[in-house]
Amino acid sequence: MRQAGRSLPEYFPVRGEGTILDAIRDADRATEITLQPVRRYGVDAAILFSDIVTPVWAAGFGIDITPGVGPTCDRPFASAADLDRLRPLDPDADLAFQTETVRNLVAELPPQVPLIGFAGAPFTLAAYLVEGRPSKNHDRVKTLMASEPELWHRLCDRLADLAIATLLAQVDAGARAVQLFDSWAGTLHPEHYRRWVAPHSVKIMDALGDTGVPRFHFGVNTGELLDQMADVGADVVGVDWRTPISVARQRTGGRVALQGNLDPALCQGSFEVVEAEVRRILADNDGHPGHVFNLGHGVLPTTDPEILGRVVELVHAEGSARGAADR
Ligand code: CP3
Repeated sequence: MRQAGRSLPEYFPVRGEGTILDAIRDADRATEITLQPVRRYGVDAAILFSDIVTPVWAAGFGIDITPGVGPTCDRPFASAADLDRLRPLDPDADLAFQTETVRNLVAELPPQVPLIGFAGAPFTLAAYLVEGRPSKNHDRVKTLMASEPELWHRLCDRLADLAIATLLAQVDAGARAVQLFDSWAGTLHPEHYRRWVAPHSVKIMDALGDTGVPRFHFGVNTGELLDQMADVGADVVGVDWRTPISVARQRTGGRVALQGNLDPALCQGSFEVVEAEVRRILADNDGHPGHVFNLGHGVLPTTDPEILGRVVELVHAEGSARGAADR
């Protein structure tokens, strides 16, 4: 999940001033920031420090991440002429900083801690490109999708190609899993997802198929889409806190592993509250294999790192107890 490392005091001195994209394209800083949560929490995997907009930025679209706001573009995507601002990526030239970061991480991470690479899915990226900033109603992007389907599919096809180039470059450099974030897909009706979004995610997942790395797929508020998100070709589907893991398993018919789903808001409370939640989720999963314990969405900036450290300890302890009981 997006750590939004903002909850770690050690994050700020390394991240430095300026836009987060400056830190992302500096391989030394990006390496160090990726390692921070692994050192602090002892989590089982590392997630590359980057952002879903990195490939679009590297292609020269004209996008930035405004602190406290999120991705913003001065000239949002509006017409076919804007497709030229999404040229194909040459990973060796355009993503050299990312390849260097991934290689550094593979060298520095303990061998039992895999690195997860990631990219943004076309709908979620298009939402930022068309709206020009984070949006509550996503009215512009939905209007483009429904009123100009031909242009919509051309836009998504370009964004899918950017995601494929990015993910393949990450895997080539040593990432051992990939996650495709379609964070805002849950704002869509299932039929609209099927028609306008799923085919592009299928293309991305298919392109990763030959690499053999597990493909995670995540969105927020996707209770009604979980079956389709599994069907696009994911091996693991992320579930936010709104859907019980047991219900998500029924909806995906047991064909994928599940990731989730502690409510990040509750992690702001006392450990007693958080502990009860962790135990409730583990009980709901009922020892079923194929559960990657995680938050249901990113860490909130005001979260006490101590609480998250204790969550990791508790999940590890319960996991080993369960493993011992099964043996
Ligand atoms: O765990 C990590 O830190 C890994 C790196 C990571 C970031 N963004 C760094 C980041 C990952 C995996 C992301 C993914 C991402 N970015 C998503 C998909 C996952 C999700 O959370 O749904 C989305 C939608 C974005 C777009 C984005 N970038 C938003 C909405 C924001 C928040 C803006 C704000 O300041 O509130 C960002 C900025 C961002 N990306 C931060 C970090 C650590 C915030 C801290 C900073 O600016 O230094």
